[in-house]
Amino acid sequence: MKKKFALSGFVVLAATLMYFGQALETVSAQKTQGKTRPAATKYLMRGIVQPNCAGVGKLLKAGPANEKEWDTGACHASCLSEMSFALMDDGRCPDGVWASAAKTTLRECSDALLAAAKKQDLDAANAAFKELTTSCAACHKAHKS
Ligand code: HEC
Repeated sequence: MKKKFALSGFVVLAATLMYFGQALETVSAQKTQGKTRPAATKYLMRGIVQPNCAGVGKLLKAGPANEKEWDTGACHASCLSEMSFALMDDGRCPDGVWASAAKTTLRECSDALLAAAKKQDLDAANAAFKELTTSCAACHKAHKS
């Protein structure tokens, strides 16, 4: 009788551990890779987010000199805006910190940056970009190992 109890206790424990193990695995899989699409988060970061963010930084430091440079700024802002959607897609988002960084900060600031670039408003562009970069720090602090 005692043996039977111990055995069923072990089975319950094993099942519980397996359940939580799987749940943890799902969460980390969501951060580094979506559920169905092949692009890893680090490549979206390295290939799209980082270069477009650096591009804006460089442009604003010197101040866009002409129509073409403002248009490049609009291009960077548009790519960052799309990334705010991609980061929320395909089961990638694990929690509220991620959602707030991507869906609120990154999206609203890149949209404000795009509007500023279209109006060629340097002050508004600088303000939007300054806040945009807080999204990188917020999400990385919680989710980048
Ligand atoms: C919503 C979350 C989130 C936001 C917002 C975010 N990142 Fe990331 N970023 C990550 C995660 C998660 C990783 C780690 C991915 C991995 O290693 O699998 C990462 C990794 C990176 C990397 C390393 C890529 C590599 O080659 O390994 C760079 C560079 C980067 N992010 C730049 C940025 C910049 C710049 C911003 C802001 C404009 C930003 N990220 C905003 C989640 C985010």
